[in-house]
Amino acid sequence: MSAAPAHEPVMLRQAIEGLAVRPGGRYVDATIGAGGHARAILEASGPGGRLLGIDADPQALTAAAERLRDFGDAVVLAHGNIEALCEERRFLPVDGVLFDLGVSSLQLDTPGRGFSFQRDEPLDMRMDPAGELSAAEIVNGYAEPELAKLIWEYGEERRSRAIARAVMARRPILTTGDLVSAIEQVVGRGRRRQIHPATLTFQALRIAVNQEIESLVVALPAARDLLDGAGSRLVVIAFHSLEDRAVKQYFRREASDCICPPRTPLCTCGHSATVRLVTRRVRRPSAAEVERNPRARSARMRVAESIVEREAA
Ligand SMILES: C[S@@+](CC[C@H](N)C(=O)[O-])C[C@H]1O[C@@H](n2cnc3c(N)ncnc32)[C@H](O)[C@@H]1O
Repeated sequence: MSAAPAHEPVMLRQAIEGLAVRPGGRYVDATIGAGGHARAILEASGPGGRLLGIDADPQALTAAAERLRDFGDAVVLAHGNIEALCEERRFLPVDGVLFDLGVSSLQLDTPGRGFSFQRDEPLDMRMDPAGELSAAEIVNGYAEPELAKLIWEYGEERRSRAIARAVMARRPILTTGDLVSAIEQVVGRGRRRQIHPATLTFQALRIAVNQEIESLVVALPAARDLLDGAGSRLVVIAFHSLEDRAVKQYFRREASDCICPPRTPLCTCGHSATVRLVTRRVRRPSAAEVERNPRARSARMRVAESIVEREAA
């Protein structure tokens, strides 16, 4: 049997530093994938470190279990959406939570998942195979304006309207190959486009299928609630501007003593800061990392640290 395709963890050193991993600490990897970051966290938190790994994708959990086998019961794996963090009370409290968002190389490179435009296969893209909606259902079921909006918002694809029109004309679209040919009718491989014509449309569909932005917005406060008081850390690596904006807005709000609308004469919100920003500006991967691993090119990392002492249970 061939080995599972490797996923190279992005911004690995910065993630471990961002979490301020310490021996004996407890951590949550909310998007464990193939377990690359998780392995480094467990190594840095030994002896005595523990890790809860969550993923929507059962294949990712199998790969992570294999990669982390030698850590025995220091690792707990849970299948579910990152929103399930809210339910992980039994692992409370933790010294750090990591989110490494988006898709893994394992998902892109494993045939049959429908994430990649490099092979012709059923147009699926669900991280959780039990998820409600596949990419084929969106592509064949949405009205043209809805489809164009989705491709524009989640793909930032400037030819979104033309692509939606081409998709409508070609329905039913059952495979990744059908979708690629519809896109290639209207998007060429011109000099100004350095990526494959289907890259942004595939990204948009994947984000919609897996409700990635909505999940993140719910998961961030849930993750903050898991933190073990002052000094514990939240690290998020985002790959899309909408994800990064959600993280930035949430961190800014939580780092602020007042969240009243601008120009309110007297503060009435009663909010007090719960975190301090460790990264005032977003961190990016080094040029050397992007050269070695082009999938790191759009990574943006933000780190926040809890400033709230945890109340005794
Ligand atoms: C970039 S990969 C993580 C790779 C991992 N850090 C490593 O080093 O191997 C992202 C993982 O997060 C999972 N994921 C993405 N969105 C999710 C969500 N909303 N809930 C749960 N898992 C999610 C994906 O299934 C994927 O396995």
